Amino acid sequence: MSIQVLGTGAYLPEKIVTNDDLAQMVDTSDEWIRQRVGVVERRISVNESAADMAVKAAQRALEAAGITADQLELIVAATVSNDEICPGVGAQVQAAIGASCPAFDVNSACSGFLFALDTAAAFIARGGIRYALVLGAERISRILDWTDRSTCIIFGDGAGAFVIAPGENYLTSHLFTKGSREELYIPMDKGNSPFYEKEVAPLAVHMSGQATFKFAVRRIVDDINIVCDQIGIKPADLSYIVPHQANVRIIDFAAKKLGLPAEKFVVNIDKYGNTSSASVAISFDELARSGKLKKGDLIAMVAFGGGLSSAACIIKW
Ligand code: ACO
Repeated sequence: MSIQVLGTGAYLPEKIVTNDDLAQMVDTSDEWIRQRVGVVERRISVNESAADMAVKAAQRALEAAGITADQLELIVAATVSNDEICPGVGAQVQAAIGASCPAFDVNSACSGFLFALDTAAAFIARGGIRYALVLGAERISRILDWTDRSTCIIFGDGAGAFVIAPGENYLTSHLFTKGSREELYIPMDKGNSPFYEKEVAPLAVHMSGQATFKFAVRRIVDDINIVCDQIGIKPADLSYIVPHQANVRIIDFAAKKLGLPAEKFVVNIDKYGNTSSASVAISFDELARSGKLKKGDLIAMVAFGGGLSSAACIIKW
């Protein structure tokens, strides 16, 4: 048994922070950020946690799916930046929307939403669950070093949600992890223990930009080829690719290597920046609501990030 996507939703906080705003804070420029990353502006939360944003995305997905929160039988949320470790985003959303099902969080950085989706799909395949809610939500602004121009200009906050149910539309998936902190890591600082002697770097996204860039392009290309091979299609048979929004140049490089036209790739990094685990869910929601999708379209979602991790899947609309 597979799954179908019944409804999607997204939420972006109201505050817009432009590249010019950031140029007041660090040594950068609108021109550099547009050309090297593709971000024009991003949304930054001033009073909503990752869980608060996830609640709003969840409500929109439930409305689109035409079901109520009490019908949910599972919630799986992906995040690396909630205000609390416990209760998790899933548990906080459960309480806020009035659901009573089991809820838990997964952490696979920017690939987290696709890991969460695959986890929920496996629960549904096991049987006994009719409706599940899958969330990606980040207030990534809380874990950035706002004096580091090579990271703070990339990211933005937001949340996305899917309501899924048993069906035959999740055709295949592939998850990848290569445990490594060389390219990208997010330490949690030393913590409170008076006994712990090991040094731990301050809480922040630490990234080797070029190494992460190369990993990202390679993973998009490999993962798309793998999921296409798994169901016996060619990348050209895909109607759309919904990639993690990390850098528009990563998407352009991957499109060229795959021999696909840029128009097949959903791109909204200009408006929202990299919203980490929320990015694929937000982008898919935009595509689903655009009116462009036709019944039978094959859509690949693909993400990569800390871990290092990557993931891809193909959905039939
Ligand atoms: N403004 C102006 N100059 C800058 C900025 C900035 N914001 N940031 C870096 N520079 C400078 C550097 O200091 C360097 O200057 P130098 O040549 O004098 O030393 C120059 O620009 C080039 O630096 P690079 O690091 O080579 O720049 P690059 O073109 O690689 O862009 C970037 C950097 C945007 C980080 C890019 O490498 C990238 O997008 N990497 C991938 C990020 C990613 O995909 N992350 C994904 C996951 S995140 C997660 O999972 C949490």
